[in-house]
Order: sequence, then structure tokens, then C-alpha cells
Amino acid sequence: MQEGKGKVYLVGAGPGNPELMTLRALNILKKAEVVLYDALLDPSFLEYFPESAIVHYVGKRAGQHSATQTEIQDLIVRYALQNKIVVRLKGGDPFLFGRGGEELIAIKKEQIPYEIVPGVSALSAGSSGAGFPLTHRGLSRQVLIMDGHTVLEEETDWTWFAQFKGTIALFMGTSSIQKIASRLIEHGASRLLPVALVENASLQTQRTTVTSLGKIAEEGISKQTPGPGIIYIGPVVNLMEEGSDLPMHGQGSFGEEA
Ligand SMILES: C[S@@+](CC[C@H](N)C(=O)[O-])C[C@H]1O[C@@H](n2cnc3c(N)ncnc32)[C@H](O)[C@@H]1O
Repeated sequence: MQEGKGKVYLVGAGPGNPELMTLRALNILKKAEVVLYDALLDPSFLEYFPESAIVHYVGKRAGQHSATQTEIQDLIVRYALQNKIVVRLKGGDPFLFGRGGEELIAIKKEQIPYEIVPGVSALSAGSSGAGFPLTHRGLSRQVLIMDGHTVLEEETDWTWFAQFKGTIALFMGTSSIQKIASRLIEHGASRLLPVALVENASLQTQRTTVTSLGKIAEEGISKQTPGPGIIYIGPVVNLMEEGSDLPMHGQGSFGEEA
């Protein structure tokens, strides 16, 4: 540990419901002197910030200036060099489409002590909430995690994606899913492949829409809420249907009394 330097915690807050924050995350938050946080889905997260902490909102809000990644990294480093305990609280897991890697590089460059606290990602919150597994013996033994935001801009091997035997989980893909579905079908994927869109996973406002790749290619998929959505493509989606052979009960019960 470096003398005269604070410590930075890159902390995963989970998918939106504070009850899915880890105990480690909560214990670290309690001792934070500075908290930099993203758009967390449930406002009750703020209750867990110490009253004495300096708090910066660094997420994106429509129509307002949001901090750039460089500005966020500069803030983290500046406070840590002032010998403060800095908590960078991020949605889901910091290392899954969370730009945690860039922040870690900035921290390491200054030789600032750090800890990464993993979080429950939307990846598992979405499938758990909707009530189907990501893998299932005989149906899916692999999961492909895709960024729907950039996949259409990059040189993508669509034939490889179309032939993928498993579950595709698409983050940030609600606006590009129609084009993605068309490309997959053009390259040989079945139109009948089931697809689930899970919005606001882990919250009371969670909504799941089930459709097929062919229908999406023709009509797109309508969101039911303004919140974030994760899309799953693959046969595991069928396991949320009633009468499936899984010992689980369909739509998740987040927030409801057990
Ligand atoms: C920048 S990525 C952050 C992912 C995050 N680090 C994680 O591990 O879940 C944001 C995307 O994650 C997905 N996402 C995050 N929270 C979600 C939620 N509660 N329900 C559904 N999708 C969610 C959406 O696809 C959203 O566009």
C-alpha cells in the first residue's frame, strides 16, 4: 500500500434493486469519503451513502451535460491522491460493459491502492427475473455476451454468430435488435429461435416480452418501459413457459414478499 494515498473501490451495485447489492459493497459504501455514482435504477441507493461523503453523480441524464470518461477518471485519481476513500459505484458488475477497465488502468498508473468489488450483472438478473437459465443441459452450454450498441458498426463475423449454439445475451441492444435479427437470419439462424427482452430486471417494474427472431426481423420489438433492457436469444427462453421441465416458477418475484 502506498503512503499518503487513499484507496479506490470500483464497486458493482447490482442490476438496480438495492437488495441485490453485495454485503461487501454495502460495508465499503459505509466508509466512503467520496462516492461517484452512475444512473442507479432505484433512488433508495442514495440512503446507503454516508451523510458526510462528497457525492458526485457522473451518469448520463437526457438533456444534461454528463461527465466524460476522462473527467470521471480524473476525479477518482484526484480524490484518491488527497488520501480519501473513493467509491466508484457502477450498475451491475464493474467489469462487464462498465468501463471499469479504463478506470482501473488510470488508478494503477498512479499506483493508487484499489479493490474491485464484483456486482450482480444484468446478465444473470435478467434471466433469473424472467425465469429461465442461461445454460441448460442439452440446450445451451455456452453464453455469448454481446454489445448491441457497436456490433453493427464493427466487422462482425455474422456467420459465426448465426451458427452459435447456446444463449446470446445482448446488452444495449433494444434499438438495434431488428437489424441484428435480420443479419442473423440472413446468415442462417432459425427464424423460430425464441427471444426474450427483459426490462428493468430486478425491479418491481420488471417486464418480459417473449417473441421470435423472425418476428423481430419483421416488426422489431416494442419496449414496455423507459428503463434498460437486456435481450436473450436462444432455446433456453422456452424454459420460462409454464409446463416446462424445470423446477422453477416462471416470472421472478423480486420485491414481492416470500
Ligand atoms: C453500460 S451497460 C452496463 C452493464 C452492467 N455493468 C452490468 O453488469 O449489468 C448498460 C446495459 O446493461 C443492461 N442493463 C443494465 N441494468 C439492467 C436491468 N436492470 N435490466 C435490464 N437490462 C439492464 C442494458 O442492456 C443496458 O443498456
